[in-house]
Amino acid sequence: MQVAIDGPASAGKSTVAKIVAKNLNFIYIDTGAMYRACTLIAQKGNVDYGDEAEILKLLAKNKIEFKNGEKEQKVFINGQDVSLAIRTPEITANVSQVSALPGIREKMVELQRKMAGENNVIMDGRDIGTTVLPNADVKIFLIASVASRAKRRFLDFKEKGIHQDLAEIEHDIEERDYKDSHRKISPLKKATDAIELDTTNLTIDEVVAKITTLIEKKQ
Ligand code: C5P
Repeated sequence: MQVAIDGPASAGKSTVAKIVAKNLNFIYIDTGAMYRACTLIAQKGNVDYGDEAEILKLLAKNKIEFKNGEKEQKVFINGQDVSLAIRTPEITANVSQVSALPGIREKMVELQRKMAGENNVIMDGRDIGTTVLPNADVKIFLIASVASRAKRRFLDFKEKGIHQDLAEIEHDIEERDYKDSHRKISPLKKATDAIELDTTNLTIDEVVAKITTLIEKKQ
């Protein structure tokens, strides 16, 4: 069983995907974390975020691993836990540039399909229903107002000890959505057969319940 959850930044995709995966004993794959890890590798290597050839060279030299931890998927670069380092404002501000590079996407999509394999998976991202798993059994497109998404991210950051202004977060979200939905390859787009779910006025539990019902109908 394959479940694809796509949508704009901070719509709650990973929060609900993690819970549903745990409840149903599915593997959760956070594809955004993969593009963030590529961005961190570029940053650490002092490589321009648009320099595809150099970033690909660095990717070949550095070992990226994704492990499903107790609470969330952890990301390691050369054995070092970078799960927090990939979520800083600097990485968030530049990830869309790196993720728009065709060679990087090709590598990540290949890895994502391999990770999905024959397993029961819930994968979240921007192009899962359109490109990575076009035959997914359930496709969901999660949306929410920019204001509510910014507020959620602000609270999430606060919990992680990262401070960023609410207005700045709102601006960053809009900018990232614009870049992600206007890039040439696999832009953020609702798959024609995806079910749109507006989470603006829904609690996490309500979204989890709706998605679980959709999955159970297909089982
Ligand atoms: O989901 P998250 O906000 O962590 O994703 C970070 C960035 O990674 C997105 O803004 C987008 O540029 C990129 N991304 C992507 N395709 C995916 C998942 C994420 O291009 N499937």
